[in-house]
Amino acid sequence: MLVAAHDKVLILDLGSQYTQLIARRVRELGVYSEIVRFDISAEEVKKRAPKGLVLSGGPASVYEHASPRIDARLLDLGVPILGICYGLQLMAEALGGAVGAAKAREYGFTRCTVDPTSPLFQGVPAETVVWNSHGDAVTTIEASFKAIARTASTPLAAVAHTSRPLYGVQFHPEVVHSKDGKAMLANFVKEICACSGDWTMGSFVGEAIDAVRKQVGERGRIVCGLSGGVDSAVVALLLDKAIGERLECIFVDNGLLRSGEVEEVEAAFRPRLGKRLHVIRAGERFLSQLAGVTDPEVKRKRIGHEFIAVFKEAARELQDAKFLAQGTLYPDVVESVSAFGGPSVTIKTHHNVGGLPKELGFELVEPLRQLFKDEVRRLGKELGLEQVLIDRQPFPGPGLAVRCLGEVTPARLDLLRRADAITRAELAKDPIYPQIWQGFAVLLPISSVGVMGDARTYESTCVLRCVESQDGMTADWVRVPHETLARISSRITNEVRGINRVVYDITSKPPGTIEWE
Ligand code: XMP
Repeated sequence: MLVAAHDKVLILDLGSQYTQLIARRVRELGVYSEIVRFDISAEEVKKRAPKGLVLSGGPASVYEHASPRIDARLLDLGVPILGICYGLQLMAEALGGAVGAAKAREYGFTRCTVDPTSPLFQGVPAETVVWNSHGDAVTTIEASFKAIARTASTPLAAVAHTSRPLYGVQFHPEVVHSKDGKAMLANFVKEICACSGDWTMGSFVGEAIDAVRKQVGERGRIVCGLSGGVDSAVVALLLDKAIGERLECIFVDNGLLRSGEVEEVEAAFRPRLGKRLHVIRAGERFLSQLAGVTDPEVKRKRIGHEFIAVFKEAARELQDAKFLAQGTLYPDVVESVSAFGGPSVTIKTHHNVGGLPKELGFELVEPLRQLFKDEVRRLGKELGLEQVLIDRQPFPGPGLAVRCLGEVTPARLDLLRRADAITRAELAKDPIYPQIWQGFAVLLPISSVGVMGDARTYESTCVLRCVESQDGMTADWVRVPHETLARISSRITNEVRGINRVVYDITSKPPGTIEWE
């Protein structure tokens, strides 16, 4: 197994919205972490040999019927456990304490007094600020536990067992608003669990290469579809290192890419791959599929089918191709459930448009399966990937087609592409840029009246869409400074003949989605 050599912490997912964040925070400390179901058995935990367990928070109340429970035998394994919020309540209750509705619900920033002599709070100032989000609290604990932190309304804001390595916090140390949360988590994984902290992207590279070599052995070539995005680019670099000449990359130019995108991919990969980079210019094929189509779902379906057809044809040309490399990430595969039994990660089916079906007959190679997006970016840096590709914002498989509302024609795509290039270039100059998840232009099928010089115009409308988000599941529109919006608007209306009006989208997700189609 890829990470067998490293210390590991398991995060039991009790349905918290922060479960993945906990896993990332632990990994940021150089300790490999995995998310597992809350009902994992003590035997299975033993088999996986973690150095520590974290019980996530969750929306349930321990005194509710059918609220999620952990295997109580976990508390006897001798493996250090940190219970967070609901996780703490569960642990306290399992060991004879009581949980009830808190006197005052605590949400947001809370002043907290901690016992700096506790191993969990080493180096943490006695007075700190923590982030809370709970309605329940531990009201009494068994004598073998002692309080190690309190807030004005929660005398048991954190507890520690007197003889076992069991700790619990009512607040959320994983959230940045908990001022010393990082130090607390570091104390838990490095001191209490004694993890060495040697899991780095540098070590990951060597292990991932070994794993790929082991999987493919001497059997045939790997085909990797480059999309222009960071995930597939990192996969390609990693595989190039792992198997060199036996990697073939296919980049489909579907005619729906952004300005400069084909050139950037060529510039990054041609010198590395030479003839093993196959750029398939299929723009006309896609555009003819889209002729006369205005329905968003039909657009997506046709693009999806065409992509598979083009990719298949290109792959068929490659001799001895046995494997297909994909940039699947950890959030797509994490085996986790919400407290109420459903998956806590919802994957929208339409997001698979632009992907490839399993029936292509290849064996899959997925070297990023264990990584989060920010880790993929760090890995890209480690592998020497160009910064423009590392920083690339997410871009949908169906490309500009879902940002070109109404019929997708070469002329309308050209307008959109130019407006989008201006939008991105100006946003990139603004100090707010690093906060932006996606910032782009959308072309509407609406004309409006304007005036230019002394003449009346009747031309297209363009929307600027700019959102901040952690994962694309929810998003808020970015408060881009007015001067930047003004510059974008003025440049588009001056430089892109055919657009005479620019509007700004101030809808969050939900209820809006990030893309317009
Ligand atoms: P929505 O529009 O649903 O998008 O709020 C959420 C995120 O997913 C991206 N997106 C896609 N990505 N294929 C993809 O690979 C798709 O078909 C697709 N549709 C939307 C979108 O850009 C945003 O980041």
